Amino acid sequence: MLVLGIDTSCDDTSAALIEATERKTAIVSNIVSGQTEIHTKYGGIVPELASRRHVEMIWPVVSEALGQRKLDDIDAVAVCYGPGLIGSLLVGCAFAKAMCYPRDIPFIGINHLEGHLLSAFLDGQEPEFPFLSLIVSGGHTCLYRVDGYMQYKELGRTRDDAAGEAYDKVSKLMGLGYPGGPEIDRLSKEGDPKAIDFPRAYLPETLDFSFSGLKTAVRLTLEKDPSLRVPDVAASFQASVVDVLVRKTEWAIKKTRIRRVSLSGGVAANSALREKMSAMAKERDVTLYLPPAYLCTDNAAMIALAGYHRLAAGERSGLDLNPKAYLPL
Ligand code: KG4
Ligand code: ZN
Repeated sequence: MLVLGIDTSCDDTSAALIEATERKTAIVSNIVSGQTEIHTKYGGIVPELASRRHVEMIWPVVSEALGQRKLDDIDAVAVCYGPGLIGSLLVGCAFAKAMCYPRDIPFIGINHLEGHLLSAFLDGQEPEFPFLSLIVSGGHTCLYRVDGYMQYKELGRTRDDAAGEAYDKVSKLMGLGYPGGPEIDRLSKEGDPKAIDFPRAYLPETLDFSFSGLKTAVRLTLEKDPSLRVPDVAASFQASVVDVLVRKTEWAIKKTRIRRVSLSGGVAANSALREKMSAMAKERDVTLYLPPAYLCTDNAAMIALAGYHRLAAGERSGLDLNPKAYLPL
């Protein structure tokens, strides 16, 4: 089955083609057009500007993803319909519907989180069920137990900021660029992670997360001592985020006795998190599925793959499908 995936949930316009069978998935194309240059001067995403840019980019991006193929070659279209910025989601959904309606192409709406969760299957790996899935992105930090395709149980989630949101807000506090994650990741390599002992919100009674206290701690520390070395603050902040994510994953492994873990979402591109999670997995003899960074951040191949599984199970969406800013998995 040749599936076209479309994702416009946030500030990346993306389209991808995947060739999928029950046994194998191959990415034919995976095009992502970012908008960093538009939003960076505001220190965060401006939703109205994001939607306008999606309108400009959706056709060029889809057309590049299609390459030599024609619409008639496509077996189905999968589009992300939430959660995300409503104006951005509307562009992808309206475009997908307009493509499918005249040719009666099967069409399916996909939850963005299901895409991230399945990205572990995109680089030739075949994670064995059940496994634990930690999704760490700009909008979400959640831990799932995955018993099969479409069988997800939430074990924990952030009670306030997502991990990526904390990176972006702390980056802004430090006068660094947007998105903050890659910038802090880079600067941390020149800093001492032990320079400042930032708090770690382990919330020992649950598998939930919390990052807003850490963000406040960084702000108060910077106000108290503006002479601190920026790389030291970055590295110490990052050490706190990474420690919490790794430790809570360890707890989930102990609690569920599931010894397979996948890591995805934009923050999964972080070098320290990848290193520490890999070391923990090695030490505990746990299998870690860690997609390459370009499959951890937003992309439409993950949406196409989730679409394939839902279509193969007989699901279809109607053309009355509406995007949803809030959409639990
Ligand atoms: O998954 P994603 O591309 O979009 C959402 O669904 O939110 O994640 C974007 C988030 C941003 O907050 C960005 O700062 C963060 O991922 N991010 C990183 C890194 N690369 C992207 N955070 C830490 N280290 C990185 N290398
Ligand atoms: Zn995402």
